[in-house]
Amino acid sequence: MTSRRTFLKQCSSLASGLLLARAVALEAMSHDMPAAANTLNVSGLPTFVDPLPLPMVAKPSGLRSLPSSPKTKLPYYRLAARPVDVKVHRDLKTTPFWSYGPSVPGPTLELRSGEEVLVEWANELPEQHFLPIDYRLHGADHGNPQVRTVSHLHGARVPADSDGYPEDWFTPGNSRLYHYPNQQDAATLWYHDHAMGINRLNVYAGLFGAAFIRDSFEDNLNLPSGAYEVPLVIFDRLLTPDAKLYYPVSANPHAPWVADVAGDAILVNGKLFPYRDVDPRKHRFRVLNTSNSRFLHLTLQNGLAFHQIGSDQGLLPAPVPLKLLTLGPAERADIVIDFSDSRGEHIVLKTDAITVMQFRVGSNKVTDNSSLPAQLRPVPRYPESEATNTRLLTLDEYQGKADESLVLLLNNSYWHDPITEKPALNSTEIWTFLNPTDDTHPIHLHAVRFQILDRQRYDAWTYDTKKELRLLGAKIPPYAGEEGWKDVVRVAPKMVTRIIVRFEGYSGRYVWHCHTLEHEDNEMMRPYEIVKV
Ligand code: C2O
Ligand code: CU
Repeated sequence: MTSRRTFLKQCSSLASGLLLARAVALEAMSHDMPAAANTLNVSGLPTFVDPLPLPMVAKPSGLRSLPSSPKTKLPYYRLAARPVDVKVHRDLKTTPFWSYGPSVPGPTLELRSGEEVLVEWANELPEQHFLPIDYRLHGADHGNPQVRTVSHLHGARVPADSDGYPEDWFTPGNSRLYHYPNQQDAATLWYHDHAMGINRLNVYAGLFGAAFIRDSFEDNLNLPSGAYEVPLVIFDRLLTPDAKLYYPVSANPHAPWVADVAGDAILVNGKLFPYRDVDPRKHRFRVLNTSNSRFLHLTLQNGLAFHQIGSDQGLLPAPVPLKLLTLGPAERADIVIDFSDSRGEHIVLKTDAITVMQFRVGSNKVTDNSSLPAQLRPVPRYPESEATNTRLLTLDEYQGKADESLVLLLNNSYWHDPITEKPALNSTEIWTFLNPTDDTHPIHLHAVRFQILDRQRYDAWTYDTKKELRLLGAKIPPYAGEEGWKDVVRVAPKMVTRIIVRFEGYSGRYVWHCHTLEHEDNEMMRPYEIVKV
């Protein structure tokens, strides 16, 4: 998706009340345009003057037990959200953020498959938010406290009461103890705020961090490790001239919400234009797109190819050679770059035409005992015949009433509508997402991992006018790098995208939503329930 919206309306039958005369809709459009902002143009700053920082690793502060099983002692972590000042560039003043640690992203959680931990998430933030709340959005109404947090471990299979349900937020001075069983394969996860109606602002403020689950299967592959395994947590921001975070607002003071944010400051582990000294050998990079709404299209400027070895939910069946890595918001990729033929070179990592960071390859030969095995982890494909239910779910976008902003829905339903997706525990379902909008939406399901089946075009005119689904052309198999386990799927415009999901783990109430956080905060999120039968 290019982040500029075209504002083409999708007026679906269900919302006849929202159906508008085109003239009114066009007039209302302008309200969604970001107000002109006095932001810093970061392209004037010198590049590659700061080394790439590495987020600290979270340390447990002892053992504790859950109230439900007082005899079992588990490693206990306490992560507190607090204001923090971060120097994002040598030549800029510090930038105030909110974080779970001394910098942004917060501390990395290092977890082992099968080893349970407890995390106490604490809210030690001030009572007032520093980013512009839109009080019209679900859960953000004036009656609610401004500052509310709740943490979600994205990609983790956890009991529902530890999943960070968006309405389970709590206020400054409070905390919640969450239980993470980690009964799942090695994968690149991340934690982030999920508070109803202000999620986009809390994440933009800095409330997120990486989390790695490791296991012995992965250990035995002998992938590059230690100093040669580096997290790259990538997120974009807009800055004011004095280096404060700028979050855009629309020109309509009654409806400040904007449909997306595209910051020109692309931060890696919290630095703008960092460099990393690397040895001429294989490195493993854990790449996370934690942007609110930016899609990353990463390339190495000298055209160097690399291998993707893992996706959102762990290792791929085999390494996939790539020159371009696309990551929607919340998607992750595990990649191996071999710098052994690039001795002495300086290689710039870009997203589209924007500079992200630089790798400075050393010129001395080094020995590399790590491996890039030809086979990684088998990912047995679910047969479609295993699915006992198929759901057709639409992604919807309309222009609201004249003085309102865009309305984004899933399956034409609002957050507060009754739950409609109730898969049975341990059952397998196919979810078919139909996207009549003009944007790619990164759709995420909590609590599960899934496989992408295919994407296919459909006749948009017939669908828009008669609500009749006519598929066109061939089914497109998953893109390179999507052959493994996923928890976010890029649902492309004017296509149907099918995933197959087994609802393993726990019963209870979870959510599924668009991970463009601006959309998620404005109704593009739905509760769902895994039902014990
Ligand atoms: Cu990254 Cu609802 O999650
Ligand atoms: Cu979306």
